[in-house]
Amino acid sequence: MSAVLFLLPFLFSFLLGRGNAQCTPQGSLSFRSPVTVAQGLSATVISANLTTPRGITIDSLGNILVIERGLGVTAFTDHDTTCDGWLRSVVVQNPSLTQGIQVHDNFLYVSTSGEVLRYTYNPEGRNISGPPVTLINNIPPDGELTTRPILLHPPEHPSIILVSSALAENIDPTARDPSSGRSQIRAFNFSSATTPAVQNFFSGSLVAFGIRNPAGFAFLPPQSFDSLWVVDNGASIDNVTGLTSAFVNDNPADELNLVKTPLFNNSSRNLFYGFPDCTTLWNPLADPVGDPQFTHLRTGAQFSLNLEPDRNDSWCVSSQNNVRPRLSFQAHSVPLDLKFYFPKLSPKRSNEQSTSSKFSRDWIGDAFVTFHGSFNRVPPTGYGVVRVPFSNSHPTANRFSNAGYTFLIQATNLTSCPGTCIRPVGIVFSEQGDKLFVTSDSSGELFVLSSE
Ligand SMILES: *[C@@H]1O[C@H](CO)[C@@H](O)[C@H](O)[C@H]1NC(C)=O
Ligand SMILES: *[C@@H]1O[C@H](CO)[C@@H](O)[C@H](O)[C@H]1NC(C)=O
Ligand SMILES: *[C@@H]1O[C@H](CO)[C@@H](O)[C@H](O)[C@H]1NC(C)=O
Ligand SMILES: *[C@@H]1O[C@H](CO)[C@@H](O)[C@H](O)[C@H]1NC(C)=O
Ligand SMILES: *[C@@H]1O[C@H](CO)[C@@H](O)[C@H](O)[C@H]1NC(C)=O
Ligand SMILES: *[C@@H]1O[C@H](CO)[C@@H](O)[C@H](O)[C@H]1NC(C)=O
Ligand SMILES: *[C@@H]1O[C@H](CO)[C@@H](O)[C@H](O)[C@H]1NC(C)=O
Ligand SMILES: *[C@@H]1O[C@H](CO)[C@@H](O)[C@H](O)[C@H]1NC(C)=O
Repeated sequence: MSAVLFLLPFLFSFLLGRGNAQCTPQGSLSFRSPVTVAQGLSATVISANLTTPRGITIDSLGNILVIERGLGVTAFTDHDTTCDGWLRSVVVQNPSLTQGIQVHDNFLYVSTSGEVLRYTYNPEGRNISGPPVTLINNIPPDGELTTRPILLHPPEHPSIILVSSALAENIDPTARDPSSGRSQIRAFNFSSATTPAVQNFFSGSLVAFGIRNPAGFAFLPPQSFDSLWVVDNGASIDNVTGLTSAFVNDNPADELNLVKTPLFNNSSRNLFYGFPDCTTLWNPLADPVGDPQFTHLRTGAQFSLNLEPDRNDSWCVSSQNNVRPRLSFQAHSVPLDLKFYFPKLSPKRSNEQSTSSKFSRDWIGDAFVTFHGSFNRVPPTGYGVVRVPFSNSHPTANRFSNAGYTFLIQATNLTSCPGTCIRPVGIVFSEQGDKLFVTSDSSGELFVLSSE
């Protein structure tokens, strides 16, 4: 590397620091708070001081696109001609964007709390032209959680878009009725016509409801329409009658749910995943003295919050009423994104330099989930990214397991969290499968995991 090239990043960060683009020189950053990384992996911060980075995706040229909540969309480009490191540039200025982001061809799809928008996007210039068009409106825009994840499907030639909504309040009785529009996923046919007609959220085909905060979802196999895997956050049940504080410190579980489609025929299966009435046990022995009624049950068991007399424990246990999760995560982990690992066998772009090797072949077909972590547990948990091993398109662990996943990275000193700990939100694999990019919202970091 020549001396001139070496100096360029500093020159550019000086020149562009207050403008549209900023260069972060290679290897110049460290985590704000220590992290513990699984053996064989390394973790590197590639950009910092971001504005609440949430959803993440990668465009056709390998630019990483991130929702910075309160700002808009930013692009991160590796080894741009002007930057020996990662160049950050602002693509969209729109403080209403929340989390959802997808990109396909020359279109960028994003969500606000009430709408799905589409921008015309140029990956070469990392810029948009013109104002966005509204694809979907009338998503219930309020509530405690305004993340509105979206998913284009199938990946190569998308013909549908899935859109999710969340609760009005922590334990939301209205979510019981799918016509509330709360805590559900709907599917929409869409076209890439220049001016598509706006579709009302309530006109979408109901895919599932009673999923409290369907924050991340993906199909497996990736091209299929058959099996949608969805992560969900359990409610805080601190104020539910009859439960002790020791019990709620370790319950309910967060969930990995399997939604069996057909997407456009909701008459053939049960679409109700329990919220607000039924929830999932994580630790049966959390308080054997105060809450002995759980001690004979297993992790993954369904129990009722007894909000309605007829939706009691027996009602919740019946799969005709309530679809139970396929796998449980520790209470208060707060899963916020889910991606499966399917590296491209031969990279499309021959000019792209690959500086690290692919992840283990054992990872192929496994799920990867971010844990945002929660204030609501002593000591804290989450604050990391986990791998959920899959075999034959299902989690390898059985549905009663409390050990169905392992951490790839986690905040080292959980007692100090949230503080400046990592709080992972969005994840995306590089196309070649040699990197896993992760946003961390409250610490303002974008980091990457790679194989050592
Ligand atoms: C982030 O912001 C802080 C405070 O404004 C500043 O001290 C620090 O240098 C910034 N770091 C980077 C990588 O820009
Ligand atoms: C976007 O970038 C392309 C390629 O660099 C450029 O030709 C185009 O003029 C830019 N468009 C806008 C709206 O800035
Ligand atoms: C979407 O398209 C599918 C396949 O063409 C069709 O079966 C379905 O009825 C459509 N659904 C809606 C809600 O438009
Ligand atoms: C099925 O979907 C239709 C239209 O999308 C909706 O009117 C109906 O309530 C749904 N049925 C159930 C059981 O959710
Ligand atoms: C439980 O009730 C207390 C007192 O009303 C309230 O401050 C707290 O926010 C409630 N907790 C939850 C998780 O709803
Ligand atoms: C929906 O599924 C049910 C049960 O599998 C089937 O009887 C019905 O014909 C299907 N409807 C459509 C429109 O495909
Ligand atoms: C739940 O309610 C049903 C119907 O009211 C009743 O038959 C059953 O015994 C109840 N189960 C429990 C565990 O209370
Ligand atoms: C972990 O964080 C807590 C709370 O900030 C602090 O008191 C403790 O000293 C830290 N432990 C270590 C080993 O750094």
